[in-house]
Amino acid sequence: MTDAPIPNFDALMEIAERLHVVGQQDPRLAAAEPGDLIRNVAGKRAIFEGVFEGRDVVFRLNYRPEEGAPAREWAEIERLWPYMAEGDLRIAEPVYANTGAGVIVLERVPGTPMLTLMRRLEAAERVAFFAPAARWLRQSTAMTDAPRVAGTAGWVRRARAASEKQPFPALRALEVQILEQMERLGPHIEGALWRTAISHGDFHPNNLIVDGARITGIDLGGSTRMPIYKDMARFVMHIGRRRIEASGQRALGVDLAALKTFAEVFALTQEERAVVLPFFLAFEALIRVEIRALPKWRIKAAEAMYRDLLSDLARTGPGTPLF
Ligand SMILES: Nc1ncnc2c1ncn2[C@@H]1O[C@H](COP(=O)(O)OP(=O)(O)O)[C@@H](O)[C@H]1O
Ligand SMILES: [Mg+2]
Repeated sequence: MTDAPIPNFDALMEIAERLHVVGQQDPRLAAAEPGDLIRNVAGKRAIFEGVFEGRDVVFRLNYRPEEGAPAREWAEIERLWPYMAEGDLRIAEPVYANTGAGVIVLERVPGTPMLTLMRRLEAAERVAFFAPAARWLRQSTAMTDAPRVAGTAGWVRRARAASEKQPFPALRALEVQILEQMERLGPHIEGALWRTAISHGDFHPNNLIVDGARITGIDLGGSTRMPIYKDMARFVMHIGRRRIEASGQRALGVDLAALKTFAEVFALTQEERAVVLPFFLAFEALIRVEIRALPKWRIKAAEAMYRDLLSDLARTGPGTPLF
C-alpha cells in the first residue's frame, strides 16, 4: 500500500468530468478547485486535494453514491464532530457535502500519518504514540459505548472465509491453527456481555494524522457499531504484522506496551484481556490476506507474527491473561 500521489490521467479526466456535472446542479461545488490526486480506486472513489471557498481541503468523490456510502459517511462525521472538534484528539472538520453527487469536502489536516512518522523514529520513541491513539479511540467511542450479548460465530466465519483465500501455504498452515484457537476461545465469550460502540472500523495508525500533540482521525467510512476490541486489534496488528518494533516486548504477536495501553485506557477487565481481545487479535490477523504482490519481507514478517500469536493464543484463557 502506498500513499504517494500516482499520476493517473484517466482518473483526473473522470474527476474533472464528474465535478463539471455536479457543478451544474450545485453552485458551491461549481467553484471548487481540484488539486493533486491522493488516491484513486478505479470505479469506486477518488481522494484529492484542492481549494473550496478559499480553504485548503480534501475532496472525497464516490463514483457510486446511489449505494448510500457518502450519505452514511457524512452522517457519521457530523455525528462525531461535536465530540472531536477541539483539543488534541479530533476528526477532520466536515466542510461541505453533496452526498447525492458523492462529494464530501473535509478540512485538509496538517501533519504526518502515524505509522509513517513511527517508521522514521527510533523504536523506543514509537511507544509514545500508543497512549494518544488509544485515547483517540476511547474519546471517539465513549458516547456510544454499550454492552451487548456477545456472538462469536460470525467473526469466526469471516476469518475462515478470508483464510481460505490465503495464497501462501506456509501462512495458511498457521492460519488453520489460529482458527482452532478462535474456536477454543469462542465458548468462553459466547452469550456473555461484551462492550460495543460505534467505532472507526479501519483504525490503523495511518488513519491518524499527527501534528505535534494533535491527533486527527480520518477515513471514517467504515464506522458502525461493533465490539470495541475490533479496532484495538486492528491498530496493534497492523503494526505487528509488519514487525515494527516499539517497546521490544511482545505478546500475542503484537507489541506488549501497546496492548497494555489499550487495556488501561479502556479499563479492560481480566476476562477481556485474557479472552476477548486475543480473539479479536486472531480475527484481525486472518482478515487481512497477504497478497502475492507484497514484498517478500512482508510475508516473512507475517509468518513470524503468526508463530508468536499462535504460541501465545494457546497459553491465554480465562483467568490467565498475558497482559
Ligand atoms: N482530511 C485530510 N487531510 C489530509 N490528508 C488526508 C485527509 N483525508 C485523507 N488524506 C490523505 O489521503 C490518504 C487516503 O485517505 P483515506 O481517507 O485514508 O482513504 P482510504 O479509504 O483510501 O484509505 C490518507 O492516508 C491521507 O494521507
Ligand atoms: Mg486510509
